[in-house]
Amino acid sequence: MPEAASSDVGRPETVRLCGREDLASGEARRFDVAGLRVALVRIDDDYYAIGDRCSHEDYSLAEGEVWSGEREIECSKHGSTFDLVTGEPCSLPATRPVPVYDVILEGDDVSVVVR
Ligand code: FES
Repeated sequence: MPEAASSDVGRPETVRLCGREDLASGEARRFDVAGLRVALVRIDDDYYAIGDRCSHEDYSLAEGEVWSGEREIECSKHGSTFDLVTGEPCSLPATRPVPVYDVILEGDDVSVVVR
């Protein structure tokens, strides 16, 4: 297999996570993608992908409750919530954002763009 050109390093990569109906509205699920932990969240027909590691301590955000009305997810360890669009924390004790990733919907496929 040819080696990746150095210009490929850091280039965005689109990875299929699941089908649209594999996740129910209000559900979050963790995926391990290209060495990253990504929490995929569905609210109605919208999908959000954020880093699955709480910025307060290393804890999976996909384990937490989805706040559909607020478009936030709550860390089930100490209760910080994170904005699913921006990754910013909305309540203490977390003070730093988590990464957010672009989601691509194509046919039945839900994919995420990672670098
Ligand atoms: S580990 Fe998430 S708020 Fe503490």
